[in-house]
Amino acid sequence: NHNKEDKEVAMQEICNLLKKEVSYYDWVGFYFKNGDKRELKLGPYAGEPTDHTIIPFGKGICGQVAESNQNFVVPDVQAQDNYIACSLTVKSEIVVPLFKNGENIGQIDIDSNTPDPFSQEDERFLEFVNQEVAKII
Ligand code: SME
Repeated sequence: NHNKEDKEVAMQEICNLLKKEVSYYDWVGFYFKNGDKRELKLGPYAGEPTDHTIIPFGKGICGQVAESNQNFVVPDVQAQDNYIACSLTVKSEIVVPLFKNGENIGQIDIDSNTPDPFSQEDERFLEFVNQEVAKII
């Protein structure tokens, strides 16, 4: 069993590691469903602080993934109309839902300052990361 602090530390280390090791991962964070509310709450992250600590379901890329239960790869954020800008330097984004016992309880969100950097390899890799996180939370 893992207490809340251990879980937060583990997820923080994952964020730090991913941001450090993958050159085009410029902001890496976890969002989780906020209790019974139809909104996401920011968890551990690495990168610049964001104003968007709460995101309603349906809003932005993250809010859309909370409802679709599917990966969302955005090669060019400027081409999205339902997008929440966190930083003007961000060019692209990938959001992969995190399932625990088959339920979409959150997601990993990665912003990149590089245009169109994300491949199916990133999707498979981040699905694996989320599966590992699901085991410890
Ligand atoms: N861009 C996201 C908001 C979260 S920030 O990237 C940290 C979105 O559109 O949902």
